[in-house]
Amino acid sequence: MSSLKPSFMYNTRPFIPGGVKGSGLLPKYASERNYLPTKNMGSYMIRLIATVVLSLGLVNVAAAAGDPAAGQAKSAVCAGCHGADGNSAVPTFPKLAGLGERYLTKQIKDIKAGTRPVVEMTGLTDNLSDQDIADIAAYFSKQVATTGSSDPALVELGTQLFKAGNAAKGIPACTGCHGPSGLGVAEAGFPRLAGQHADYIAKQLAGFRAGDRKNDDNAMMRGVAANLSDAEVKALASYINGLYQ
Ligand code: HEC
Ligand code: HEC
Repeated sequence: MSSLKPSFMYNTRPFIPGGVKGSGLLPKYASERNYLPTKNMGSYMIRLIATVVLSLGLVNVAAAAGDPAAGQAKSAVCAGCHGADGNSAVPTFPKLAGLGERYLTKQIKDIKAGTRPVVEMTGLTDNLSDQDIADIAAYFSKQVATTGSSDPALVELGTQLFKAGNAAKGIPACTGCHGPSGLGVAEAGFPRLAGQHADYIAKQLAGFRAGDRKNDDNAMMRGVAANLSDAEVKALASYINGLYQ
């Protein structure tokens, strides 16, 4: 049957990741935490993941514990743009719901320090203490993210890239770090992507590609995005907006 083998790994992998609105795919495996790289992944991905896992020290994550209730009160000023429950209505304002405490803490600190400049947030993070940041991160990461939808015309390319990457172009599968349904790996600081606004995702991918966003440790995302075309950015962004589990 080898002549009938599909050319992309996602068709041959032993799991089917979460569904995508517009694709007709349904999630078949409930637990994304059980995800492990398989022998079907390219050695490039395996090396990449090994590097990431080692450099992040997955077994040794210690951070100030955040109090979600305190975080809710402290995040009132954030709600105007990001939504009270972290699900923003405006596509250029990212949803913060469910992104993961470690990722959110890092981003708020980076925005405060200016290593990830966000002009819209000028002055808003200056007076936040580490405890405030931990509390706010705890609050938003406990909120349930809403999902969007994918343009059916872009689902095929989006699925291909997200689940299998493109070895010839040096683009790794997104699932390797963000999980089969894009739910992220909170402990590692790999953010949830599923359901995020497409406009925002496209802006981040273009930003990583151009090096305008450069707060990713070890240039991980700059490396991932370096060889994406505009059409691939668009397809991935649309696909991600419709991801759900
Ligand atoms: C005036 C609107 C506005 C307000 C108010 C605001 N933000 Fe933002 N925030 C933005 C925009 C716009 C971005 C995305 C910038 C970009 O495109 O990279 C952002 C990005 C972020 C991110 C990164 C999200 C991600 O997915 O990487 C975090 C975290 C964040 N904001 C937290 C906060 C917190 C905490 C507050 C309250 C203290 C707050 N924001 C208030 C507009 C706002
Ligand atoms: C080697 C691991 C790895 C791979 C593979 C990977 N990512 Fe990421 N991604 C990360 C990390 C880590 C971050 C957080 C960077 C930071 O701390 O600012 C991130 C952040 C992002 C963000 C920003 C999210 C936000 O809320 O601002 C987007 C968008 C993204 N990745 C999309 C993708 C896509 C699309 C792919 C596949 C083409 C992919 N990633 C593959 C590790 C990875």
